[in-house]
Amino acid sequence: MTTEHALPSYLNPDDLGPWGQYLKQIDRVTPHLGNLSRWVETLKRPKRILTVDVPIERDDGSIAHYEGYRVQHNMSRGPGKGGVRFHQDVTLSEVMALSAWMTVKNAAVNVPYGGAKGGIRVDPKTLSRGELQRLTRRYTSEISLIIGPNKDIPAPDVNTNEQVMAWMMDSYAMIEGNLSTGVVTGKPISLGGSLGRREATGRGVFVVGQAAAAKRGVAIQGARVAIQGFGNVGGVAATMFAEAGAKVIAVQDHTGTVVHSNGLDVAQLHKHVAEAGGVKGFPGIEQFMDRDAFWGIESDILIPAALEQQITAANAPLIRTKIILEGANGPTTPEADDILSDKDILIVPDVLANAGGVTVSYFEWVQDFSSFFWSEDEINARLTRIMQDAFNSVWEVSQDKKVTLRTATFILACTRVLQAREVRGLYP
Ligand SMILES: NC(=O)c1ccc[n+]([C@@H]2O[C@H](COP(=O)([O-])OP(=O)(O)OC[C@H]3O[C@@H](n4cnc5c(N)ncnc54)[C@H](O)[C@@H]3O)[C@@H](O)[C@H]2O)c1
Repeated sequence: MTTEHALPSYLNPDDLGPWGQYLKQIDRVTPHLGNLSRWVETLKRPKRILTVDVPIERDDGSIAHYEGYRVQHNMSRGPGKGGVRFHQDVTLSEVMALSAWMTVKNAAVNVPYGGAKGGIRVDPKTLSRGELQRLTRRYTSEISLIIGPNKDIPAPDVNTNEQVMAWMMDSYAMIEGNLSTGVVTGKPISLGGSLGRREATGRGVFVVGQAAAAKRGVAIQGARVAIQGFGNVGGVAATMFAEAGAKVIAVQDHTGTVVHSNGLDVAQLHKHVAEAGGVKGFPGIEQFMDRDAFWGIESDILIPAALEQQITAANAPLIRTKIILEGANGPTTPEADDILSDKDILIVPDVLANAGGVTVSYFEWVQDFSSFFWSEDEINARLTRIMQDAFNSVWEVSQDKKVTLRTATFILACTRVLQAREVRGLYP
């Protein structure tokens, strides 16, 4: 792929990966930014990139080295905020794109953060618990130069969880010599975590799903829902849709695809995944399918909630659904976006649909600073209101400008980011 963008030398112009996908999204919003477009270049290059070597001693006495990153894309509106991913396919391009999508997402729901993201190129399933802890602590120490409760606040992402956040918080406390619970979010409740944080992203997907379904005249009761990814985001979304009377007819994870046209028993599927490590082998199904066949399953709502670049020009033509809720970050390529729009499929983009997680992370951070904790009902009610308001604002822009919900979300968010940049001005 070639590009007209002036690219930094650390990227491969022939294979820009997810960062190329993000750049194309920025190109689509630029004509709608008016005078602010003179600042748009600032969105096309991350403010700060830290690459770190993360060495650990393995249990067998050998030394292993892993590649780690923390990217702070934009901090015009506040400190950096974004998750940390442990995955064998992590690349700099991916972490850059994820950090940029955090900038857009935080501005879309109007929480006072910039965008950041981190990752280590490792398959954590190959590590023992002790090795995982050493890896997390060493990574935290390497990025401690640039993180902090007022600088940049990590959170969980793919293959990281409350325990990893607890180790990060503890390592930061040891390095700084004082305990700042607000340095990470998504912590265990016993350490200043927030009620409702674990479920927040899936809950947010459900809330915008209800709003989108109402616009499209789809009843949630009886709606056929297909989900890729049954982890934190996909698993919670599945439960919420099933509890609201929808039929979760297909679930795919890294082990395969399970299908039941009358709806899978989601509670039993959770139990099976907890024991077996994936959906494969789940007894109560009609069919076990190949990976690619998943995209051809007819549904009312499709939720990609695994990894980026899953819906491409190759499989978009197969998709038969009414609404796509992007639980994952960056699951749809711009080419696939166009194909799906032509088929009149409504896509609620990642930067809106999965913003519930960072919204409750924001609540957690606020609660940590004030050392005063809210009830779960209060948290869920505030989350629901923020997600509904954001959806309605985006919907209005999309109707007004005749653009997709993705471009509308980018218009709202990039305007907020660039307005902040303009009033702050450039230093020095
Ligand atoms: N956790 C959050 O709060 C949060 C917030 C916003 C966005 N997201 C995004 O949501 C997505 C999922 O995150 P998560 O926290 O649920 O992760 P997770 O690790 O809890 O779950 C990931 C799921 O994806 C599945 N998966 C992995 N590779 C796959 C493949 N090749 N094909 C099919 N399924 C595959 C796994 O089996 C698992 O079920 C990511 O894109 C993440 O960036 C997460």
